Amino acid sequence: MGSLRYGIIGGGFVTIFHLRALRQVRGVEVAGLYAVPAAEQAAARVRDYGLGEGKIYDSIAELAKNADVVAIFAPNYLRVEMTEQIVEAVKAGAELKGVICEKPLARNMSEGRRMLELIKSVNVPTSYFENQVHMRPVHAAREQLELVFQSMGPPVLTRSAEEHSGPHSGWFWDPVQQGGGVLSDMGCHCLAVGWYTLTAPDKPVQFLEPVAVSADIALIKWGLPRWRQQLLDRYGIDYSKTPAEDFATGTVTYRNPETGQLVKSQFSNSWMYEKQGLRIFLDGMGPGYAFELNTLRSSLEVFVGDVAAATVADAEAALEKSTATRGLLVVQPNEPDLLGYTDEHRDAIAAFNAGRSALLDWNYGLQIVKLTMAAYMSAELGRVVDLTDAQTLRELDTYVPLIQQGRGREVLHVPG
Ligand SMILES: NC(=O)c1ccc[n+]([C@@H]2O[C@H](COP(=O)([O-])OP(=O)(O)OC[C@H]3O[C@@H](n4cnc5c(N)ncnc54)[C@H](O)[C@@H]3O)[C@@H](O)[C@H]2O)c1
Repeated sequence: MGSLRYGIIGGGFVTIFHLRALRQVRGVEVAGLYAVPAAEQAAARVRDYGLGEGKIYDSIAELAKNADVVAIFAPNYLRVEMTEQIVEAVKAGAELKGVICEKPLARNMSEGRRMLELIKSVNVPTSYFENQVHMRPVHAAREQLELVFQSMGPPVLTRSAEEHSGPHSGWFWDPVQQGGGVLSDMGCHCLAVGWYTLTAPDKPVQFLEPVAVSADIALIKWGLPRWRQQLLDRYGIDYSKTPAEDFATGTVTYRNPETGQLVKSQFSNSWMYEKQGLRIFLDGMGPGYAFELNTLRSSLEVFVGDVAAATVADAEAALEKSTATRGLLVVQPNEPDLLGYTDEHRDAIAAFNAGRSALLDWNYGLQIVKLTMAAYMSAELGRVVDLTDAQTLRELDTYVPLIQQGRGREVLHVPG
């Protein structure tokens, strides 16, 4: 079988991460990229990594015509219009075997549903990219504990966190463009991995039924005058007028439809994590057993003293969102693999070659949007959101969180 040709929309941070993953994956090449402004740096990486010629296309239509798979690695506020253009391209003759979308699928349910309707109209298989579900340590834990799960039952509680010191592009900080703050940006990771790791490995990913969500959000660091000013100077984003949350925590309760048992996943996310860089933490437990992973632990540590520090140019070489270039550094030698990027590509490639959607399809992505919206609703209302209530589900369908509307001052405390 020939290589699957990826056409990538976007050329920023996550595209580079994916290219680092793709050089470790078989059966794929990069047909080209489309981004505004043009993605010269990413195109150079494509060439450096031997993934293709690094061709830059002028439109999504042209990109789709020359690819087997289109991957949306662009900002969240462009999802619907990009899906429309992909669908137009298919109607005009582009023969796509699959479409990939990075997390979050959409900013709210209306947008997500529209994307799903569009892609269903042309019957193209989908993959929703949630890297945490594909992390090797997650799978190793499930494999190691398989027999224990069978004798004692699957996990009943998981607690997960994804945190760093704050995003790298202005649009992430803008609650209207991004869809909110850290809950929209990173809560989706924890909601997905929590659901997945509570689920018995022989069951489908949506087997457990979400029944209730409670959440609390706050603006803790980036609302303080000194940090607000930094956002204004660096990105032109004013958190005194349109704030977003930099901390979110909560719990989702799931019901096992076979046994009726209720199990829980707790999530915690922040843009104010002040250690070496991005930390993904997950632990889980069932009767008589437990597992735990923490990406800030590595078998490799590097020490850079003050005298040598001036020679260290690239802080991000050690970890995603690295905050330090000196002292005792944690280094993850293969972060794209550790974080699940390589295996999410392998899963998508195998699925698209077989003519089907990936393990996590866009409908699954929409369910994660629903959980995210329920968490915002819970934080706004100050109560548990009941996902078994038909009226609540109807409200979630059209709900747009106040923070996403640019009305964050109505729910977040912004210090004077
Ligand atoms: N899985 C993860 O952990 C993870 C990490 C980072 C980002 N992401 C997701 O990936 C997506 C992209 O994030 P990023 O970090 O690469 O952002 P970024 O700001 O670094 O890059 C965005 C890219 O989109 C391009 N772009 C902007 N407007 C465009 C337009 N109108 N048409 C075409 N291209 C346009 C820009 O030129 C840039 O290349 C987001 O949805 C984000 O949530 C996921």
